[in-house]
Formats: sequence, structure tokens, C-alpha cells
Amino acid sequence: MAEHGPLRVVVLVSGTGSNLRKLVAKSNDADARFRVVAVVSDRADAGGLAFAEEQHIPTTVVRPKAHASREAWDAALANAVANHGPDLVVLAGFMRILGAAMITRFASRIINVHPSLLPRFPGHDGPAQAVRAGVGESGCTVHVVDAGVDTGPILAQATVPVAKGDDAASLHARIQQVEYVLFPFVVSAIAHGALTLGIKPEWHAVPPNAPPSLIVPNPASSS
Ligand code: GRF
Repeated sequence: MAEHGPLRVVVLVSGTGSNLRKLVAKSNDADARFRVVAVVSDRADAGGLAFAEEQHIPTTVVRPKAHASREAWDAALANAVANHGPDLVVLAGFMRILGAAMITRFASRIINVHPSLLPRFPGHDGPAQAVRAGVGESGCTVHVVDAGVDTGPILAQATVPVAKGDDAASLHARIQQVEYVLFPFVVSAIAHGALTLGIKPEWHAVPPNAPPSLIVPNPASSS
């Protein structure tokens, strides 16, 4: 982590980038201690890239098809991300599983937001799984990325009710509303040192402006 200056955050996106927008907005707060220094995507048509360009944030596209193998793509992605000297790598709707090059190079420094209360409903269709299971409550999880699919240490969660008649899309839309608060909150907590990553993530204090339904593992007893 940088000793001086704001935390350098590289965001990876595959889609519309609505979470990216919220992260950039938060980074513009007067007391923010992080900066989105680059946006990297696996798709040239990702909406998040267009937004980054509008914001004059440097962008890079690393397309799997431009590489001979998944490993070669993963290594190229790791190089592209490393070029921006990140303290933290944030997956905001990045739809590919990272390989060994990414995971080892940025061990304990990659975080993701997932639209379910992990460990329940990992994988690409968390909201649909929750609807199918008939649960009364769902939400989102911010976790450290490891070599598994949505298996890394949980940093924070926020809950939403599942409404009668919800389908995957309506539930996902409700979950996204809390993602927009939780994800910037967690990045900001890391930037302020309230949450440290490493071998065992640890909350030292829970800052204000948390979503009302925040759940954090082992919160510090005092702030
Ligand atoms: C989010 O809902 C997140 O939970 C999931 O992908 C979605 C990305 O949406 N990992 P957006 O691109 O930020 O709009």
C-alpha cells in the first residue's frame, strides 16, 4: 500500500460500470483517500470504459481472443494492471475468472462485489439462485478474490429483502442499490486504514456512512 498520497485503485469492468461510477464519485469526495488511476476491461465495448474515458481515466483493454491461451491472457492482464501501480485492484462487474498470474501478483489486494450473501449463491447468477431458493433476504458481499469462484475472505455484506413476485432482474436491481453504498464504503475504509487486508482481513473501526444493513465479520469493539 502506498505510504504517501491516495490509495491507487485499478478497476476492472466488463459491463455497464454502474459500480465504477459510484467508486469514482466517492473518490471525488473531499475526504477520499483513494483515486481510480485506471480502468481495465476484457471487452472493448464495456460501458464502464466509455465512462472512464469521459472522466479522463486511463483505460486498457485486454481481450482474451487476442491471446493464445487463458494463461497468456491472464499474464497480459496482470501486466496491464501492474503498469498502473495499483495498491488495490477492484473487480466491478468483471465477468471473467482470474488466473494464477493475477491472483499471485496481487495476492490479498483484489476485491470483488458479488450480488448475494456469500457463501450462498456464488457464481454468475446470484440473484436468480436466491429467487429460485425462495429466500426472504438477499444482499451483496464484498470479498477478497482468491483462486476460487467467490470464495475469498468476506469483508462486508449488506442485506435487502426479497419481495414477493421478485424475479432475478428486480432482485438484482434492489441489490445494486446497496452495492452502490457498500462497495465505495469498503474501498474508502481500506484507504483510511479502517480495514486492512493481507493474510487475515481485519476491521479496526467501522467508519460512518455505512449502509444501514451492514454486516462485517469480527468488527472491532471500539472505534
Ligand atoms: C454488479 O451487480 C455486481 O454485483 C456483479 O456485476 C454487476 C456489475 O454491474 N459482480 P455494473 O457493471 O457495475 O453496473
